[in-house]
Amino acid sequence: MNAVDDISIDIAKGEFLTFLGPSGSGKTTTLMMIAGFEEPSAGAIELEGEDLTRRKPYERNIGVVFQNYALFPHMTVERNVAFPLRMRRFPRNREAARVREILDLVGLGPFAGKHPRELSGGQQQRVALARGLVFNPDVLLLDEPLGALDKSLREQMQVELKRIHREVGITTVYVTHDQTEAMTMSDRIAVFSHGKLEQVAPPLEVYHRPRTRFVGEFIGDSNIFAGAVDESQPGCVTLEALGPVRVDVEAWRRVGKGAVDVLVRPERVQPAAPGADPALPNRLVMEIGVIVNYGDRVLVIGSARGQRLRMRIAGAQPDAIREGAKIIVGWRPGDEHLIARE
Ligand SMILES: Nc1ncnc2c1ncn2[C@@H]1O[C@H](COP(=O)(O)OP(=O)(O)OP(=O)(O)O)[C@@H](O)[C@H]1O
Ligand SMILES: [Mg+2]
Repeated sequence: MNAVDDISIDIAKGEFLTFLGPSGSGKTTTLMMIAGFEEPSAGAIELEGEDLTRRKPYERNIGVVFQNYALFPHMTVERNVAFPLRMRRFPRNREAARVREILDLVGLGPFAGKHPRELSGGQQQRVALARGLVFNPDVLLLDEPLGALDKSLREQMQVELKRIHREVGITTVYVTHDQTEAMTMSDRIAVFSHGKLEQVAPPLEVYHRPRTRFVGEFIGDSNIFAGAVDESQPGCVTLEALGPVRVDVEAWRRVGKGAVDVLVRPERVQPAAPGADPALPNRLVMEIGVIVNYGDRVLVIGSARGQRLRMRIAGAQPDAIREGAKIIVGWRPGDEHLIARE
């Protein structure tokens, strides 16, 4: 069995691409093949038309930052960052200036003479980043670089990484299994599952138009209803548990016939007034189970005819939304996304 299979991605110059996927889905393996630490059994790795597949890691001009910072403990920050320059025979007389420049970029200027043990986790991670950038690589690879940091430091470093990416403009491949991180940082996201690529697209496309059910469930909160296209009525899909619903007619045409999954994000489900409403033809009785009030929004978890259903309401909790209550909810045609079942 292969760790990854049939992966094909074109990465644009200057792009920030994120590999996102569950544990064991092949993110690190793919990254290590780009870096040259793993050799693919088939296929090729190219950079600007040049075949890198058989080249050693240090012959690739690719910077790598791992999750465990792997700094040299006995070397100062300055020496740690100078190390890749020495490996690459960078002119000695320009070394100090280059190290200073890159330490300033990552905000570590004042720490040049310290040892790694004297630094916080976030600072150590910046040293690792400086070391990955100092020799002006064509590509920067980062494997869960923020995984060991606490939440607030992590968010701070995300902003920092984006700033550095903007300033340097370097092509970046970033690995994470944190979907929020992927959504906020990336130009495009490559979603991995079981060693295969499920979708490569900009964050909002991955969110609003997932190509597979896996992507729809992995990214964001979702309601997914199994159903079948009703070929006799344009814009009609019959859901297994909930019966017929109206969907966007264009999307209905594109998806063709047969089995289909209907994805409705919880923020698209809304409470409805009793009685017919032509704008809201898809209506259900929802039995409310649990309510999670976040202050700025309310997540309502329940079911409709035995089918799990989630609704998210912006703002305060309406009076009618109570645990144990039965309410009418609905969504508009076009609020859904159709995924043809394979
Ligand atoms: N050196 C190896 N030899 C054989 N199989 C490996 C090796 N390294 C990883 N694998 C397998 O390849 C698959 C992909 O692993 P990989 O480390 O790429 O996943 P990942 O997406 O980076 O996961 P995580 O989020 O846990 O880091 C897994 O099934 C793993 O067990
Ligand atoms: Mg990994």
